[in-house]
Amino acid sequence: MNGAGAGGGDPVAGVYEAVGADGLRAVVAAFYRRVPTDDLLGPMYPAHDLVGAEERLADFLAYRLGGDPRYLETRGHPRLRMRHAPFVVDRAARDRWMELMAAALDECAVAGDARERLEAFLGDVASFLMNRA
Ligand code: HEM
Repeated sequence: MNGAGAGGGDPVAGVYEAVGADGLRAVVAAFYRRVPTDDLLGPMYPAHDLVGAEERLADFLAYRLGGDPRYLETRGHPRLRMRHAPFVVDRAARDRWMELMAAALDECAVAGDARERLEAFLGDVASFLMNRA
């Protein structure tokens, strides 16, 4: 039923099951380990609340991929474009975000069909969040 990736429906159906709740948290942790030392993204994130930022992204992804809905309960409707409005999200920032995420996915050995579809989904959201030419 899920996971075929063809024939319409949710393009990330089955990804949550394939990567697992713990796997997803590990990916987000690996992403945030790279953020503070990144010359472009590091300064954008709250140095005093990286643990909170990690939790917000992990909760969002779990919720969006069909797992635990805690994000909705704690943060409300995502409104991600609005929540990224304070930051300069240009092509360079978007590409760097995806670079760090790809490295995190590599580190956590997320591979195959789930990797492809998760990365495509994240790339689409990242493009949607660009707010500068
Ligand atoms: C395109 C490049 C991106 C940049 C430069 C960027 C930057 C940021 C920054 C600086 C924050 C604030 C950190 C915090 O305190 O939570 C943030 C929050 C967040 N970002 Fe991104 N982000 C990008 C892409 C994405 C993508 C692709 C997603 C989802 C797939 C995402 C989901 C989130 C979420 C869920 C939050 C927390 C929102 C909240 O509840 O307040 N971001 N982002």
